[in-house]
Amino acid sequence: MNKKTIKDVCVKGKKCLVRVDLNVPMKGGVITDENRINGALPTIKYLMEQGAKVILCSHLGRPYNIFNDKIKKIKPEDESKTREELVALTLKKCSLAPVAARLNELLDNKVTFATDVIGESAKAAVAACKEGEVVLLENLRFHAEETKNDEDFCKALAEFCDVYVNDAFGTAHRAHASTAGIAQYGLCDEAVAGFLIGKELDVMGGALETPVRPFVAILGGAKVSDKIGVINNLLEKVDTLIIGGAMAYTFFKAKGYGVGTSLCELDKVDLAKELIAKAEAKGVNMLLPVDTVVATDFPNPIDAAIEVDVVPSNSIPDDKMGLDIGVKTRELYADAVKSAKTVIWNGPMGVFENPTLANGTIAVAKALAETDATTIIGGGDSAAAVKQLGFADKMTHISTGGGASLEFLEGLELPGVACLNNK
Ligand code: 3PG
Repeated sequence: MNKKTIKDVCVKGKKCLVRVDLNVPMKGGVITDENRINGALPTIKYLMEQGAKVILCSHLGRPYNIFNDKIKKIKPEDESKTREELVALTLKKCSLAPVAARLNELLDNKVTFATDVIGESAKAAVAACKEGEVVLLENLRFHAEETKNDEDFCKALAEFCDVYVNDAFGTAHRAHASTAGIAQYGLCDEAVAGFLIGKELDVMGGALETPVRPFVAILGGAKVSDKIGVINNLLEKVDTLIIGGAMAYTFFKAKGYGVGTSLCELDKVDLAKELIAKAEAKGVNMLLPVDTVVATDFPNPIDAAIEVDVVPSNSIPDDKMGLDIGVKTRELYADAVKSAKTVIWNGPMGVFENPTLANGTIAVAKALAETDATTIIGGGDSAAAVKQLGFADKMTHISTGGGASLEFLEGLELPGVACLNNK
């Protein structure tokens, strides 16, 4: 990576404003997955050890802007609520207080929580922060100015910042005040990457730029339209491109197969034809499912018991829909993984929330867990699947980004990285 990191600057005694991605899933105020907290710890601990005053900031969810005078974009179901009710509801769902409490446990009681972002609580906490201590500011998105990348808001945040550190890979694709603005407006002495962003860029960037070959990419998920950029970029780089998930049905249509009642983007069929042609022209081996698990209806609820058949992919009955890759395809895809030296995977192979329709995703996860190749999980649902199946520690790298990983795999420059100082 050509960007400066926290190792390239002196942080002792300095206020380091660190943008972390603490957007953790919560249920009833309880954190249900600590992965993002754990991902942020190496940078935080290093800065504490170096004697920095560590000021952490993050968003959590997409909350109402309750720190502005007028709360905007109120959802229809909340329109009848008073401001007090909206504030209480938002704090309950999106306050970073539970995350601060957990961080405090993990960091030897050295964490103070500020109940605002740029107000009196934050100012007092930062003023009292000693070297090696940590302050966590309240949810940045309680201010509408955060996502608007408002210059005055950036200036107020920069009061807490000698050195700006971006370690929020999950939000690096957003050009917000805390992810890009502070550095873009030149409001800090240094703007550097933390360890997490560094690792994400080194591992994923390394695989994309100088992969050990054969290089295999596995893409799943519902829609071709969500992955056009990624497919296009990867076709320039990989030896084999494996397609699974519902987006395979748009490719089936492009090949002239009937798809029954499967999810299929009819307006993307021509694009799928172009992508097939591009793969051929580039000499990329594009693999589509040779057989498909079908059922009469989509499971409802999603984990409901369901009766399925397995049919050749070019023979999906008119009244059935494809919901997973079939047995032969699982073997084919596992063999492709076995022959690879670098594998990137993004997106499930079927409706993996349903036990009967999870076998394709499980087979791919298992193949990745068993290979000695470099294995990179590009965030989102495939990361969740790998963790759920207990294979997390068998992978070389599981990206903490969802949208950010996709944009990175698409070859786009992420604003949260572009704004950092070059070495
Ligand atoms: C994520 O969960 O992907 C990141 O935290 C970014 O969240 P956002 O999509 O709400 O910006």
